Amino acid sequence: MSEILAIYPGSFDPITNGHLDLIERGSQIFNRLIVAVLTNLEKNPLFTVPERVEMLQEATRGISNVSVDTFSGLLVDYARQKQAKALLRGIRAFTDYEYELQMALMNRKLAPDLETVFLMPALSYTYVSSRLVREVFQLGGSVSGLVPDWVEERLHRKVFQGEQPK
Ligand code: PNS
Repeated sequence: MSEILAIYPGSFDPITNGHLDLIERGSQIFNRLIVAVLTNLEKNPLFTVPERVEMLQEATRGISNVSVDTFSGLLVDYARQKQAKALLRGIRAFTDYEYELQMALMNRKLAPDLETVFLMPALSYTYVSSRLVREVFQLGGSVSGLVPDWVEERLHRKVFQGEQPK
């Protein structure tokens, strides 16, 4: 059987332990996994794309079949260019389902051969999102245990010490 390459797309602003949990699970199912950061975000990101890529690379350093990349434009076009067979997405709670279903079905309409595979993160991360991590941290709350310690440190430098992008 040929190798199965999957793409795990997202904003990853910043990477959370929930993302990492999903990456580890995905890496055990697929032969290769590319974590792909969307570059043309409509939202106002906290971390720049190079910063997010660097953090993802650091977080996935020990997983040999995982690489990190960026993409812009349609996800299906990027997946086709990489000859990926699957898209990986996480579903945490019921509320994720509607948005994820819409995206998966739209992607299937655009690229019928590309399958979306949903995985559930560990139960302890089902409430964790990058958006909430950013919000809680910016308002002075603790995000300990929800992101790697060194991401918390990066958040501190960015939010409270005004670190400028390199
Ligand atoms: O982490 P996010 O922000 O929920 O990820 C959303 C993402 C990047 C997967 C989605 O916005 C996306 O695929 N954007 C690329 C443009 C595209 O293909 N849009 C149509 C999707 S149905």
